[in-house]
Amino acid sequence: MRFGEDAEQAETAGWLHDISAVIPDENRIAAAEAFGLAVLPEERTLPMIVHQRLSAVIACELFGVRDPAVLSAIACHTTLNAGASRLDTLVFVADKIAWDQPAAPPYLPALDAALGHSLDAAAFVYLDWLWQRRHTLGVIHPWFRAAHRERLAARGIEST
Ligand SMILES: [Fe+2]
Repeated sequence: MRFGEDAEQAETAGWLHDISAVIPDENRIAAAEAFGLAVLPEERTLPMIVHQRLSAVIACELFGVRDPAVLSAIACHTTLNAGASRLDTLVFVADKIAWDQPAAPPYLPALDAALGHSLDAAAFVYLDWLWQRRHTLGVIHPWFRAAHRERLAARGIEST
């Protein structure tokens, strides 16, 4: 509501964004393929990362969510993507505020401050924080790369 988005859409995405966690990591690629998803090479290398798209399929097929905006927000909540909607960005940022590790996220103060400017500024804080640490990642998901590159370009910075 603070960012002018539909709270009900955001809440539905919030409830279901990690629903594919019920499928163990080692079965996620097979599950994604069984649902007809074209699995990306990066997802095959690091099956954890397919959980975002798998959650969207489960939200649709098992929970009857038919709103494409909600399904899109679920499908890119980990990596974001180029051309993301405001709801996509909102759910992405919310996912980074409440991350899955015990200590507070190191980027949180900067992300919080950026939220005072815009949702997109907050998304960029996380994307750029992760981009600076990309050498620590198992894979660089093409959606993450595209999201970061698009936002760099919007700031007049060429991607490395
Ligand atoms: Fe997730």
